[in-house]
Amino acid sequence: MRDQLEKIKEEALNQIESSDALEKLNDIRVAYLGKKGQLTSVLKSMKDVPPEERPKVGQMVNDARALIEGKLEEARTALAKKAREEQMKKEVIDVTLPAKRNHVGHSHPNTIALEEVERIFVGMGYEVVEGPEVEYDLYNFEKLNIPKNHPARDEQDTFYINENIVLRSQTSPVQVRTMEQGKLPIRMIAPGRVFRSDEVDATHSPSFHQIEGLVIDKNITFADLKGTLAEFAKELFGPETKVKFRPHHFPFTEPSAEVDVTCFKCGGRGCRFCKGSGWIEILGCGMVHPHVLEMSGIDPEEYSGFAFGVGLERIALLKYEIDDMRLLYENDIRFLKQF
Ligand code: DAH
Repeated sequence: MRDQLEKIKEEALNQIESSDALEKLNDIRVAYLGKKGQLTSVLKSMKDVPPEERPKVGQMVNDARALIEGKLEEARTALAKKAREEQMKKEVIDVTLPAKRNHVGHSHPNTIALEEVERIFVGMGYEVVEGPEVEYDLYNFEKLNIPKNHPARDEQDTFYINENIVLRSQTSPVQVRTMEQGKLPIRMIAPGRVFRSDEVDATHSPSFHQIEGLVIDKNITFADLKGTLAEFAKELFGPETKVKFRPHHFPFTEPSAEVDVTCFKCGGRGCRFCKGSGWIEILGCGMVHPHVLEMSGIDPEEYSGFAFGVGLERIALLKYEIDDMRLLYENDIRFLKQF
C-alpha cells in the first residue's frame, strides 16, 4: 500500500511538472483526486488494511493529497503568471511611435468671413434675419423701386421661375420683408445666397452670397451710415483702414454710394493687390429711398434709414488673399484646410 501510494505521488508530481497548460492541470486533478481518481480509490480500499494501520495509512493518503493539491496550485499560479507576462509582452505600447494624425474639420472661408461680419454687427446691436431664396418679383424688384422694364434689371441677370417668382438676385428683398412687418426701429443684417445667370469665372458665379444691412429709425442721417460703415471696415480690415464714399446709383437708395477701403496690403500706396489705386471697393450703400419706405408702409416724413449690401465672397477673397472665386466652390480639401 505504501509503495502504491509513493508511486501514485511520484507519477502525479511528474505529470504536474511537465504540464504546460491549465487544462492539463485540471485533467491531472481529476485523474488523481477526483471521485474516481487514483488516490480516492486507495482510500476506498482501506477496508483491506488491518484496523490498527488504518490511521497511519489514512494520514499518508491525506499527506499525498495535500502535496498534490499544493503542487497543482503552484503550477497553476506559475502558468497563469507566464500567460499574463506573454500577453503583456504582446500588448506592449511603444510610446515613442509617432501618433496617428487626426484630421479636424475646418470652417469654409465664406463661413469664417460671415461669422466675422455677424460678430461686428451683432456687437453694434443688429439682429441677424433671413429671407427666402425663391422670392417674389414684387420683393426682389418692384418694392425696391425697380419696376418692370427698369434698366437696373439688366444689371442683375435674373433666373425667373415664372413671371412673378424669381431666384432672388440680391438680399435686398429681405429689407422689404423686414419693413413690412412694421416693427420699428429696425437694425438688421440679412446674410444669404443669391442667384444670377452669370458665367463662372474668377470673379463670377451663378450662385454667391450677400449680406444686406438695414437701419430704420427717427433722425437717421448719412452721417450714421458713414460712421457705421467706417467702423465696420476698421473692425474687418484693421484699425488703420480708411473709407471713401463714392457717389453711385441704386434704385432703392437716394443718395447712393459705393464704399472703398484703403488697401490693407499696401496701406493705400498702391500695389498689385489694389491694381495700383490704393483703394479696394467693398460694398454698396445709401439712404433708403422715401418711395421704398412708403411702399413698405413706413412714413418717410417720420422715419429715415440707411441700407448696405456686401458681397460675402468678395470679403473672403480679400481677407484671405484668394485670387480666384472658383476655389471657394470646389471644396478641394487641400485648399479648405488652410483656413
Ligand atoms: N443689392 C445691391 C446689389 O446686389 C447691393 C446693395 C447696394 C444693397 C446698395 C443695398 C444698398 O442695400 O443700399 O448690387
